[in-house]
Amino acid sequence: MKSGVGAPTRARIPDKTLRTDRWWLPPLLTNLGLAAFVVYATIRSFWGSAYWVPEHGYLTPFYSPCLSESCLPGSSHFGTPLPELPGWIPLGFLALPFLLGFRLTCYYYRKAYYRSVWQSPTACAVAEPHDRYTGETRFPLIIQNAHRYFFYVAFLISIINTYDAILALTHGLGLGGIILLVNVTLLWAYTLSCHSCRHIAGGRLKHFSKHPVRYRLWTLISKLNVRHMQLAWTTLATLVITDLYVMLVASGVISDLRIIS
Ligand code: FES
Repeated sequence: MKSGVGAPTRARIPDKTLRTDRWWLPPLLTNLGLAAFVVYATIRSFWGSAYWVPEHGYLTPFYSPCLSESCLPGSSHFGTPLPELPGWIPLGFLALPFLLGFRLTCYYYRKAYYRSVWQSPTACAVAEPHDRYTGETRFPLIIQNAHRYFFYVAFLISIINTYDAILALTHGLGLGGIILLVNVTLLWAYTLSCHSCRHIAGGRLKHFSKHPVRYRLWTLISKLNVRHMQLAWTTLATLVITDLYVMLVASGVISDLRIIS
């Protein structure tokens, strides 16, 4: 038996929607934005070169941490515990699945791609194409419940990205160092504004007054949390800008703009 708008108890409305506004525009823009990032990130992750600028200490976040013997000399800030990797394995393969999982299970991104990609539903008052609705109770969407575990790993990776940015600044100050620093600052803002982080800070408390530190943290995170959507998109953009800049400098297309050598 059909459920949702096809359920027998629902009014029979043959039109897909009675809305007359441009309700399709936000999901379309979301699709285009997500697709552009996925294509760029996939190409760059498998690129295998132009990810490290030794003279300025710039390492793109797509290849951090670089832990194999295939990594360029100097780019492995935490050693090379892994052997050489075949070319079809991205050098950032340890962090990338977790970062992908973190974004895929993010509460904001769920809203975005459930509407735009999965169309469940595409917009308010627009009938969805699916016959049944099972929410996040079955595989694969039940994995969404693991978001807080992806958060823990993303938190660690943010620390690593911070280390990379600080290391770059020890080589003097250039535009690349500023870009790395801005990127990691925004990544922290995105990571700390996470709904799971907010819950970890202040969830399951009966009396805020008995936990002033957690309450303070929860208050600060709540202020960031209202910007989570903007931070989600901004950090996609800064990740691309950071990687693109490092790639252009590493491949010799442009020179780094030096402020203090
Ligand atoms: Fe978006 Fe956790 S809710 S990162």
